[in-house]
Amino acid sequence: MLIAMRDRTWDVVWVGADLATFDPERGEVWGTVPDGALAVADGRIAWVGRRTDLPGSADRLAREVRDVGGAWITPGLIDCHTHLVHAGERVEEFTQRIEGRSYDEIARAGGGILRTVEATRAATMDALTWGAEQHLRALARDGVTTVEVKSGYDLTVEGELRMLAAARDAGDRADVEVRGTLLALHALPPEFAHRREDFVRLVVDEMLPAARARGLAHQVDAFLEDFAFTAEECEALFAAGRAHGFGLRLHADQRSASGGAALAGRWGAASADHLERCDAAGIEALAEGGSVAVLLPGAYLVLRDDRPPPVKGFRRAGVPMAVATDLNPGSSPVRSLRTAGSLACSLFGMTPAEALAGMTREAARALGLGDRGVLEVGRRADLAVWEVDRPEELVYWIGGDPLRHRVVGGELKPPNRPWGLSDLRS
Ligand code: NIG
Ligand code: FE
Repeated sequence: MLIAMRDRTWDVVWVGADLATFDPERGEVWGTVPDGALAVADGRIAWVGRRTDLPGSADRLAREVRDVGGAWITPGLIDCHTHLVHAGERVEEFTQRIEGRSYDEIARAGGGILRTVEATRAATMDALTWGAEQHLRALARDGVTTVEVKSGYDLTVEGELRMLAAARDAGDRADVEVRGTLLALHALPPEFAHRREDFVRLVVDEMLPAARARGLAHQVDAFLEDFAFTAEECEALFAAGRAHGFGLRLHADQRSASGGAALAGRWGAASADHLERCDAAGIEALAEGGSVAVLLPGAYLVLRDDRPPPVKGFRRAGVPMAVATDLNPGSSPVRSLRTAGSLACSLFGMTPAEALAGMTREAARALGLGDRGVLEVGRRADLAVWEVDRPEELVYWIGGDPLRHRVVGGELKPPNRPWGLSDLRS
């Protein structure tokens, strides 16, 4: 039955593009709609389908018709794991690792994360925000519309909140939706070197409630590793995080098999991330817990790891897989989500369709966001319009500039040049 529609009900209708919807109802993985039309009203997707099935002529249905002849439209990409608020870089460690020193060795010697903690604590709010804005603009040039940003480089109550506020402000400036995560258990700060329990108590009793009260974070995260935090400490964080209504994330089984995936699955965490050393029990636990496996091939590449995460096992067990940049100054100085997708294919054996689903639908799931990541009626109109003949090209080419338009909450955003207007500061 054709629904009678008033004239110009929609704000915009996009036509002349093939759509990769990632809607399982429309078919395996891509959910392709050839010669599609996509309507937007009040910042939401109001209609998706074949252009020939539109309930009338496009210019009668919408106030504006945007014909992008020959393009592909996907959901706006979602980078669901970054550490992009930080001061400084760690170029020396990059060079040291090339010369043979390991990430773990550098961390144990007081380098690594703690070097960035020192620099971040010393930075002004303005400098932190400006740096984050540049990273977000780089991601946005790759069609990214939502980015998760973790704290974890200050490790004091006020400082962690300051990082999350910088992320939020940078998102506003770069036209990217930022979702904050309190990564409270990232490294043990020097002033707590011999008082681990006191630090965990500070996180649980003060940081979590403060982050909750200020509304700056939606999820909590921890680094489970023998040179970082123990399973018991991570579970204390999970228990408190859950009690405060946060989603749960975990850096798990990256450098050592520490039972991280099993723990995350047992808690029904939103995700377990990295997973190079996830075993069969971990895979099973993630499947049972409904947790997403977030794969971070940038860190794998830069740390020169040689053991990829068990992609075949995740596939067989039906564990959803997401792909993210892990953008950070230590293990993953990667500022392109499409590049992470390409690496996930070449290094981990994901298919291009899996990688792109991992940067849209499954990334949204890792963030606990049911309102985006799929081109489906009712979801946010976050879109990327691409100058490609086939959607596989988005992870096939490394580099280049295939993005034609980026739409956030229904609004067409200006191209994100490398330097924003804030570069004009004196
Ligand atoms: O995801 N694992 C902990 N966090 C980051 C590394 C952060 C850093 O080295 O600064 C990661 O790889
Ligand atoms: Fe990380």
